Amino acid sequence: MIKTEHLTYTYGIGTPFEITAIEDINIHIEKGDYVGVIGHTGSGKSTLISHFNAILKPTSGRILIDGHDLWSEEKKTRIQTRFDVGLVFQYPEHQLFEETVYKDIAFGPKNMGLSGEEIDKRVKKALDFVGLSRSILEKSPFDLSGGQKRRVAIAGVMALEPKVLILDEPAAGLDPRGRDEILSRIRDYHRETRSTVLLVSHSMEDISRNTNSILVMNHGRCAMHASVSEVFDRTEELIQMGLDVPHITKVFIALQEKGYPVSRNVYTIEQGKAELMRLLGKDGDQHA
Ligand SMILES: Nc1ncnc2c1ncn2[C@@H]1O[C@H](COP(=O)(O)OP(=O)(O)OP(=O)(O)O)[C@@H](O)[C@H]1O
Ligand SMILES: [Mg+2]
Repeated sequence: MIKTEHLTYTYGIGTPFEITAIEDINIHIEKGDYVGVIGHTGSGKSTLISHFNAILKPTSGRILIDGHDLWSEEKKTRIQTRFDVGLVFQYPEHQLFEETVYKDIAFGPKNMGLSGEEIDKRVKKALDFVGLSRSILEKSPFDLSGGQKRRVAIAGVMALEPKVLILDEPAAGLDPRGRDEILSRIRDYHRETRSTVLLVSHSMEDISRNTNSILVMNHGRCAMHASVSEVFDRTEELIQMGLDVPHITKVFIALQEKGYPVSRNVYTIEQGKAELMRLLGKDGDQHA
């Protein structure tokens, strides 16, 4: 689906501010995967994902979407990529500008040249995905709450029905309930559409609860790209990169180190509960 070969990007070439933000990235993201992208501040996450829909042109290296080399083919390929790969920026609500919610969500599909009927269908479907009611459609986006605005902005990208949906910190700045709500909506979207989803997040909890695999960025390089369990199993390395593992994982590692026969591969509260039940059921008398 998405493949990069020696992908490198340098900002401000030839200026005193020249900085290579990503370097020699070689990754392959499978169709239908749900990938978490983690890494410390400035590690190159946003720079990397901006290449996936042709917003940034590599300084060197290649990027292939569905086998098409984005920058060696005609401009048409890159225009199509903007629709195939939907990118939700950090704080996307800052980009709402139309007078109604409807018009804002319809903006992308309209640019695709779709019929009015098809646009209407997509706007409503996207609204359902983000869990907003139809009554909001004729309101001004500026009269909505922060969480609602965020959802309208996400719906605008979902309405493109992209093959790949990329979200840069979609839950940043929301309260815990708002975070959970948005992330569970994105999870349902992934399950229902079977599209490829990339989620950039600083929260290991959000990543462990939602994604299937993880891509770890460190100082502009891809340090790991593997399943959730393989990545979180490398706790020490993650900590050295200024990252962390979910709190619940630390609890189980500590339990194991104290001699309890538990698995270290526990990343969510649900898994923790199941693991404790197993332990209590089996060795309840001994450890309860
Ligand atoms: N427009 C820009 N011009 C110059 N340098 C930039 C620009 N955008 C990012 N950089 C630099 O490139 C490097 C990578 O930045 P990037 O925004 O990709 O990191 P990030 O992992 O997304 O960080 P964060 O977690 O803070 O969002 C950083 O050193 C950053 O300062
Ligand atoms: Mg960023």
